[in-house]
Amino acid sequence: MSQIDTDNAISPSQLEELRQHAAAAAEKAYAPYSHFRVGAAVLLDDGKIAEGCNVENASYRLTTCAEQTAISSAVARFGPGIRLRAVVIVNLNNTASQPCGGCRQTIHEFSTPRTEVFFPSADGSLVRSTVAALLPHAFVLGEG
Ligand code: THU
Repeated sequence: MSQIDTDNAISPSQLEELRQHAAAAAEKAYAPYSHFRVGAAVLLDDGKIAEGCNVENASYRLTTCAEQTAISSAVARFGPGIRLRAVVIVNLNNTASQPCGGCRQTIHEFSTPRTEVFFPSADGSLVRSTVAALLPHAFVLGEG
């Protein structure tokens, strides 16, 4: 599903660093209901990194996904002007997992045309994609 030209790609070492941040965040996941532990790391355009994990709730719909936690953390730490260079998602369950629809919209909010999104495939490797590929026709307030 690679839709990104290699000129735009983050380096293998950047990807590995982000994967490690995401995996460390996943270790902190609060997932007593699904036991599905997810971590996400975001690389910002200025090189800063933030991470997050899923935080579940007994009232299931109040659960926050790892991607949303990571992006909320990035805004809380670095301010409202953040732009995502890359998002890396991992889980500790050794399975494929894709960002959910809501997370795609959250990623879109802070994305640029260069933003890369990586998520785990069944064989454990990371699939590289783009926001446009993951969420065509994203909601934009006021666009008719
Ligand atoms: N989850 C995420 O953290 N990110 C996603 O993109 C998909 C789902 C979490 C939410 C819930 O805690 C668990 O995975 C099972 O759905």
